[in-house]
Amino acid sequence: MLPASLLLNWYEKNARDLPWRRTHDPYVVWISEIMLQQTQVETVLPHFTAWFERFPGIASLAAASLDDVLKAWEGLGYYRRARFIHIAAQQVITEHHGQFPHAYDNILKLPGIGRSTAGAIASFCFDANTPILDGNVKRVLKCWHGTADVSENQLWCWAQYALDASGDAATWNQAMMELGATVCSPNTPDCSSCPVSRHCTSAFGTVETVHPGKAAKVMDVHWHVALYLHPEKGIWLTRRPASGIWAELWTPPITELDEPPARKPTYVHLLTHRRLHLYGKVLKTEPSGNGQWVSDITKFALPTGIHRLLEKHGGEI
Ligand code: ADE
Repeated sequence: MLPASLLLNWYEKNARDLPWRRTHDPYVVWISEIMLQQTQVETVLPHFTAWFERFPGIASLAAASLDDVLKAWEGLGYYRRARFIHIAAQQVITEHHGQFPHAYDNILKLPGIGRSTAGAIASFCFDANTPILDGNVKRVLKCWHGTADVSENQLWCWAQYALDASGDAATWNQAMMELGATVCSPNTPDCSSCPVSRHCTSAFGTVETVHPGKAAKVMDVHWHVALYLHPEKGIWLTRRPASGIWAELWTPPITELDEPPARKPTYVHLLTHRRLHLYGKVLKTEPSGNGQWVSDITKFALPTGIHRLLEKHGGEI
């Protein structure tokens, strides 16, 4: 049995000073946990600060338009998270009198919040004995137990067991994430700095199956991006469909190409499962179909890939 104090003491001395760790406000913790779900801490930090200037409380978030929320999410990717946050904020207003729910089961019912995020919020804000099981924590547990071949159910059992033994759910959860993020990393675990290496089955490469990161299968996609430009009216943008890549964000008209064209792409943007080869083409003709002229793109939520493409065409736009 791993002595919990080893990890808790290590965390006390080594924890990064992150703004969401200085509060128990469930609104702040909720937003930070959603931002951190698929995005690195360094990317999240500037968005985190800007978010609370734009939406200081749940009421202002619930009352905002979806476009405003998507705009505030710009650069974080995985925009589904922003749409869920918006709906969840409205549910907090209508179903919980504007108070973020305290009970784990009610937190879990909010859109976009799964078991692990509900566990994080409930433990950090309301001292609940609820474990987390994000990618980092899963890896740490697999490492300790020396197996990568383990069911989700078993991982939850291990997570709950270790948490119960720790006596301090909130700190334990933070410490597990911190260990996974900074020491027990996917490709280069630093076992010599690990506070619990002597209790770990995989320490120093004893078990090789645990660490190698699983490479996502990436498909190449070739997109023609029609850059209709007008000296006064600006650029023609359309809203993406409600599902699929970049759902509901604004982009110039995009056509998927069956074959890669002979020329090099203007910009290549990597998503988790897709490599988007973007071929920008400046057009001075009149656009047709759905869309609108936009003279100030800073008012619209555009995917980062499109921002990069426009930068490449910078001279002409
Ligand atoms: N990733 C997910 N939640 C986190 C947290 N609270 N601190 C640091 N990284 C995290």
